[in-house]
Amino acid sequence: MAVADPRSAPHHPNDQKPEAVERRVAEALAALSLEQKVRLLTGADFWSTHPEPAIGLRRMVLSDGPVGVRGELWDERDPSVSLPSPTALAATWDEALLERLGALLASEARRKGVDVVLGPTVNLHRSPLGGRHFECFSEDPLLTGRLGAAYVRGLQAHGVAATPKHYVANDAETDRFTVDVHVDERTLRELYLAPFERMIVGAGAWLVMASYNRVNGTTMTENALLASPLGDEWGFDGVVVSDWSATRSTEAAGRAALNLVMPGPEGPWGDALVAAVRTGAVPEQAIDDKVRRLLRLAARVGALEGVPPARPAPAAIPAAEAGKLARETAAAAMVLARNQGDLLPLDPASLRRVAVIGPSAARGRIQGGGSATVHPHYAVSPLDGLRAALGQRVEVHHALGTRIQEGLVPVTGEHVVDPVTGQPGVHVRLLDAQGHPLHEEHRDVGKLTYIGDRRANQSATIEVTARFRAVEAGRYRIGVAGVGAFRLTGGGRVLLDRTLVSHIDDLAAALLAPPQLGAELSLAAGQEIDLTLTHAVPPGAIAVAFSLGVEVPALPEEEELARAVELARSSDVAIVVVGTTERIESEGFDRSTLALPGGQDKLVRAVAAVNPRTVVLVNAGGPVTMPWRDEVAAVLLTWFPGQEFGNAVADVLLGAREPGGRLPTTWPAREEDVPVLSTKPENRKLVYAEGLHIGYRAWARAGVAPAYPFGHGLGYTRWEILGVDAPSDLAAGEAVEARVHVRNAGRRRGRHVVQLYLSRAGSKVERPALWLAGFAAVEAEPGKEAEVAVAVEPRAFAHWAAGGWQVEPGAYTLHVGPSAAELVHQTTVVLRG
Ligand code: BGC
Repeated sequence: MAVADPRSAPHHPNDQKPEAVERRVAEALAALSLEQKVRLLTGADFWSTHPEPAIGLRRMVLSDGPVGVRGELWDERDPSVSLPSPTALAATWDEALLERLGALLASEARRKGVDVVLGPTVNLHRSPLGGRHFECFSEDPLLTGRLGAAYVRGLQAHGVAATPKHYVANDAETDRFTVDVHVDERTLRELYLAPFERMIVGAGAWLVMASYNRVNGTTMTENALLASPLGDEWGFDGVVVSDWSATRSTEAAGRAALNLVMPGPEGPWGDALVAAVRTGAVPEQAIDDKVRRLLRLAARVGALEGVPPARPAPAAIPAAEAGKLARETAAAAMVLARNQGDLLPLDPASLRRVAVIGPSAARGRIQGGGSATVHPHYAVSPLDGLRAALGQRVEVHHALGTRIQEGLVPVTGEHVVDPVTGQPGVHVRLLDAQGHPLHEEHRDVGKLTYIGDRRANQSATIEVTARFRAVEAGRYRIGVAGVGAFRLTGGGRVLLDRTLVSHIDDLAAALLAPPQLGAELSLAAGQEIDLTLTHAVPPGAIAVAFSLGVEVPALPEEEELARAVELARSSDVAIVVVGTTERIESEGFDRSTLALPGGQDKLVRAVAAVNPRTVVLVNAGGPVTMPWRDEVAAVLLTWFPGQEFGNAVADVLLGAREPGGRLPTTWPAREEDVPVLSTKPENRKLVYAEGLHIGYRAWARAGVAPAYPFGHGLGYTRWEILGVDAPSDLAAGEAVEARVHVRNAGRRRGRHVVQLYLSRAGSKVERPALWLAGFAAVEAEPGKEAEVAVAVEPRAFAHWAAGGWQVEPGAYTLHVGPSAAELVHQTTVVLRG
């Protein structure tokens, strides 16, 4: 039986007076020549669109996204609020919070002159090896879609456009430019398209980004999926922007429902597209449709004179308030996976000596790598956060335990002084072919990224000078990370003179994870050396990125480990912070393993062996294996928590806040158990052969227990689920409201995420073992009961077949439980035929 789209006609909650806007847009369009129109359809530069003063159109700025707004500069000179990674945001299962964060991002966007935020990233966690796993919300389409829609609403309610990305099936990074994802129509509709549908139909997103990959043979910037279901069925009236450099053709992309090619000013459209229209290869109507959408976007964000923006500009949010929200969110996202004997929260009054151990303790990782990176105003490490919270009365000691940072790290004021200004940092000169300076500046760190920066692109050489000071005696490695020709001199001697080549065939990835080369120097404590690094800028470069880096002397591994063990043995509690690095979780490549890098597993085991009060904090954006998890008292998954990392850790460990997170993705015990693991295309094809069975659906089907299931998270109180009621029968297309009764059986107030799953035994249609059908949060005081209404949409009962949403009549089981693997009550709902 066929059912209508359960979410009724498309509506765009952010539109005001659409007729007046459409009239103004039509007038502006009519005033443009073909050349003027086509010019608007390719970016003016890396981050902005062309203005057209003749029609009162100003340029619009687009910026990443999604957990902070970077702005047009990609370095420390223009810092941003840094929020927790999307996996963390998803772990909150909290749409109201996501809306508040959207509002904060809107205010950040306006502060930086940004009109369009390139996010949220709503691809799915098909495999935990996916390089941008941290940047996507979940393995479940409903959770992803609802949270993404809340993010879009929060942002657009303040007149800043959201860009759900990457449409579609860009769920891994390997060969992302060329991979051809083969996926059947039902799987696309029920899994990978479903979050986008919710953000378009339900939240009225103003842009969508077309991804790099192909789907079923056609690259996404030319794919028919842009026209249908996005354009027709979902009623999308906004702009489809290409992912950066994803547009590959003039005519095919010109005829497709792609509207804006980024970045610019070069690209496959321009004059070639004008010519294609003149020969009739691309209809002018197609061009008009693209421009109309761009002008409509301009009207919405306030970039078209004569139309008030769709929404008033957001109020500026002071930094302190933004920090508070970032801290609240980071704590709300942390998942308490294990807590033997209720070790957590710790009672500060009972502590005298605390060990904070591990490679991520003193310098935690606040965000994943790639285009999602922002430069934070500050970052609080777990060590700093705990020291601040525990005060003078408690001794807090640190030991590294093991080193995971491989290779060179960009120099900072800790090691270098600008020889010209005397400030901590480096001095940079952009020189022309004759060696005359075009520009010079002081920089705080040795990592330089110039994207779409005219002065840098026009220079022949970039020169970095610094006075390096050895903090301690030992063997240092000093060198460069980047692609191209570099020469480094130190103390008047040539240390390096080489051309570095990337083995990764992806400009972004080459910029993000570049090759490195260093020279070894033995230095005495306090010894200084003058460094000069020069880079020959390739003619016509649009992006220049490299760093002057250092690798400091290290203790032998056994000695690092022995120090940590000794510290743990003599402390009241051992807090071990383990995690991944930017060479592991980043855009541009997938992970090769789920194991923690370096000697971290060994470190945790050695610490746990001498201190039964060991708490492990896992600072990773996605799942890692934890073979020691049953040997330690407590495991807290912190994700990449943003700038407030350490303060949120202190809040949670010391009980000021509950770790509120529930897993948005399954954490496996062993890599070999993961049902869908490989992200490697074969013959350029990546076949989604598992169909609907990803994530917890696949784990349940395989009957294998993961380390921690989807939905799991303990919090600081205990919940009893007393029962679930729902109407016993309903008509197809009818919404259900289930009522779930819970009791807070613990000793403090807390928040519980009620999760409803559906299953259907004996179905004639292939189905997942179970699927998430609804969720809602409840808070209650200790000893109190509460009843929670959880909406289940008609779509939860529908499947895609024969080109439409269908419902199979019969009995469905509605389950409730604290995770996908622990379903404690159920009721039957019969769908009438
Ligand atoms: C990423 C996008 C990002 C764009 C601009 C691309 O490499 O895939 O997510 O928005 O760069 O930075």
